Amino acid sequence: MSAQKTPAPASPVTHATTTGMTGGGFYNQNSTPQWDATAAVLEHLEAAADALPIDGNGPVCLADFGCSEGRNSIAALSKPVTRLVRRTDRPIQTIHSDLPTNDFSSLLRSLRPEGHSVFGHPNVYSSVVGGSMYDQLLPDRSLHIATTFNAIGFLSRKPIATLPGYIFPNGPSAVRNNGFVSEQDQAAFSKLARQDIATFLKARARELVPGGKLLLQVFGANETASTCDGIYDLLNDAVLCFVEDGSISQDVYEAYFQPVYMRTLEELTGPVNDPALGAAGLFQIDYAISYEIPVSFNQRFSAVGDLDAYARDYVNFFRAFTEAVLRNALPANDQRDTLVEQIYEKAIQLLKASPDLYPFRYIAVAALMTRTRN
Ligand SMILES: C[S@@+](CC[C@H](N)C(=O)[O-])C[C@H]1O[C@@H](n2cnc3c(N)ncnc32)[C@H](O)[C@@H]1O
Repeated sequence: MSAQKTPAPASPVTHATTTGMTGGGFYNQNSTPQWDATAAVLEHLEAAADALPIDGNGPVCLADFGCSEGRNSIAALSKPVTRLVRRTDRPIQTIHSDLPTNDFSSLLRSLRPEGHSVFGHPNVYSSVVGGSMYDQLLPDRSLHIATTFNAIGFLSRKPIATLPGYIFPNGPSAVRNNGFVSEQDQAAFSKLARQDIATFLKARARELVPGGKLLLQVFGANETASTCDGIYDLLNDAVLCFVEDGSISQDVYEAYFQPVYMRTLEELTGPVNDPALGAAGLFQIDYAISYEIPVSFNQRFSAVGDLDAYARDYVNFFRAFTEAVLRNALPANDQRDTLVEQIYEKAIQLLKASPDLYPFRYIAVAALMTRTRN
């Protein structure tokens, strides 16, 4: 079991444990699996837009929480926006929200290409809001559709200070089995993951109008696999190479973990009706699903067999969402940037040497909900 010290903040933003994804266009370029996982549930968002009560005045407002650099966020919201502009003359507002430390620059450049809304309609207006999705960020009853994709797995805080045997709360895969997380530590993360859903629901419940829709989607786990398998085994192995050669101390290794949790469908939907968590009655679940998407870089590797391209795409994929936390966990000295480069380069080498050790599958869970009139 890990020592229960007060965790150091992993992010300068309250109710957050990362500063965001790797910026400068890197996340946009390396997030095709996240898009594929998002696209798989968009038909439900379109149906929600068709059924949305939109009598009244003022803008019909859609907000996406955890938008990152925005490529996937714009593509996702374009589906309900297209349905809504057919139904109403009311202005439509899209809000793209992420942590204030997120790199919003690609998104800001994308929202009005050539002076027109990227959503292809003059009555659509877009804006950006910085803040933690675990806080209320929009006025009471101002929002009609809320979404979050591949984001609520990022926990609001670190529930324990150290994770001595592995770098990810759910533990290593059965295939690689290269570390350990105690049951007690796993339980601390599972408990917080449930609380985080309730906290998110309470914030969105204030923002949404009665009858408003919430689509909650995130990477997760089922009985056969978890979306952490493979990628975190590889990152763990790469980091341990630098612990072994003395570049990273044992203390730094034990204090470093990615504060992300892979939920089952029950862990996603249970908090919606759990009276102990304080969000029961705020939402009614319309639809819930656990699903798996084919992974684009796995498919390319199967078809073409290019190991170099596979290793680069696989490592860039997880680098985009792990780099900020890894960098912040390492001592802030002149060597830090070089060490980060070396760790991801080592991951590429390890994967090329033994691709069968690190199979990766993308499991996701999602629920579409309606804000009740409570
Ligand atoms: C893997 S990216 C997903 C981006 C996009 N939704 C997609 O599906 O491609 C996760 C995003 O969640 C954001 N995030 C993490 N913790 C957050 C928090 N507490 N509040 C708001 N956003 C958060 C990160 O900054 C990051 O941009």
